[in-house]
Amino acid sequence: PTTRYYEWTVSQQTIAPDGLERPMLLVNGMFPGPLVEANTGDRIIVKVTNNIVNGTAIHWHGMFQNGTNWMDGTVGVTQCPIPPGQSFTYNFTVPNQWGTYWWHAHAASQYIDGIYGPLIIHSPDEPHLGRYQEDVIMMIADHYHIDSGSLVTWYLSPDSEGTEPVPDSGVINGRGTFDCSGDSQALFPSGNKCTNGAPLSVFNFKAGTTYRVRIINSGGFADFQFSIDNHDLTVIEADGVDMQPVQVQRLPIHVAQRYSVLVHANQAIGNYWVRALMNTNCFNTPNPALNPNIEAIVRYEGAPSTQTPNSADWSSSAWVAVCVDLTLDMLKPYFTVPVPPADVSYHLDVSFQTINKEHINLGYMNQTSWRPLMNDSTLFQSQRGIGTFDVSSQLVIPLNATNGVQLVLNNLDEGSHPFHFHGHVFHVLGWGHGNYQPGVTPLELVNPLRRDTITIPAYGWTVVRFVNDNPGMWAMHCHISWHSESGLLVQFESLPDRIKSFEIPEEMKSMCASSKA
Ligand code: C2O
Repeated sequence: PTTRYYEWTVSQQTIAPDGLERPMLLVNGMFPGPLVEANTGDRIIVKVTNNIVNGTAIHWHGMFQNGTNWMDGTVGVTQCPIPPGQSFTYNFTVPNQWGTYWWHAHAASQYIDGIYGPLIIHSPDEPHLGRYQEDVIMMIADHYHIDSGSLVTWYLSPDSEGTEPVPDSGVINGRGTFDCSGDSQALFPSGNKCTNGAPLSVFNFKAGTTYRVRIINSGGFADFQFSIDNHDLTVIEADGVDMQPVQVQRLPIHVAQRYSVLVHANQAIGNYWVRALMNTNCFNTPNPALNPNIEAIVRYEGAPSTQTPNSADWSSSAWVAVCVDLTLDMLKPYFTVPVPPADVSYHLDVSFQTINKEHINLGYMNQTSWRPLMNDSTLFQSQRGIGTFDVSSQLVIPLNATNGVQLVLNNLDEGSHPFHFHGHVFHVLGWGHGNYQPGVTPLELVNPLRRDTITIPAYGWTVVRFVNDNPGMWAMHCHISWHSESGLLVQFESLPDRIKSFEIPEEMKSMCASSKA
């Protein structure tokens, strides 16, 4: 095993990802941020220096953090924010997992402003290693012209009437296009320079080579349908879990999900569009200035370096606004593991309720709308053994025994919600529209899909299980930033006895004294 050491500085910088300049929050000035790459078994050490005006924290999305829950990087859950002007060093090993992950700020909605990047773990045990020669990363995200803090403030005010801020454009590996002309001029903050025809991301392919394209939805709100003109996609991985290969032409990907697809460069030398079609049909309010066709270019060696391919949309299937994941029968894990028993079972309702007095629409998990602690974390509270949590803002479910846990997630809302569980993968036993009927609706109990982020359909349900064998305080939340900020987050206090004996570095706790985020 090797130690992978990184030094990062988070700062505010003005860049123009889609042609329009705006202040962004960036790691080492990069957008997306630096690649973290390691082998299974390696230690990852990242020294993060915070040079922005608010507190921050970095989460390693999909890392199990077995035995190092306090390195999970989640403000209010596993740590207090790193104060402005200070540094904190994350330090953890990756003992038992590989695949496509990502890292992002987990303080308020900061990652929407640019604090994210890819996290790739390699292993000689990967079953599809022999099928490809090159690795390519495509991070797809919605993009906004106004800082996310202002958008959240608006969203959580009576003015929004509960409708989410909608993107202005989208980016693939930090680049996109926005039409600076016409009516849309009025929509961006005055004084920010806008240039038409900003360069798109270009991926150089060699004819005959097979690529493993790792697609990461690092956005805050929108889900996408991904395709590459003239090229089939063979899905081999979802969220760090190897899959039996399945061929598609178009791939739906919701916020925080990842897929690896094999792409064989078997076409005529040329330029081809990479398309990430933003699923605007799943938004309440369209943005008239938004072009939902987010593009990049695959350029074969020897092809002219023209900016615009003339390839046509490869997907034969008509565009259908579904706002759901690939079906469970399409995605089958490569390695079978036993399905955990349902030793204990919880029902969790996802809903939005209007606080009448203030006309504010908040997200609720059962009866609780999450607000992050700022000068403490529920992990530290658990370790101190305070016994009870502030139930008005923290729904903490204690799981005292190492057993199987079933969750029935009901979505009472008109939108779909991509739910992520820290430190675990879900075994996805079923999902559907309408109501889940225990004992009537069949569940998949043989080699079901496993992944760390699942979409619960609008007015629908999802049943998942996991093994409660990873001690710590683990967040489970809607990964749409607007929704986690409005309260859609629950926490599982796994094996509290083991939490008591965690050796959490003093420097972590000391950050609580000066916290503000
Ligand atoms: Cu990407 Cu709470 O996570």
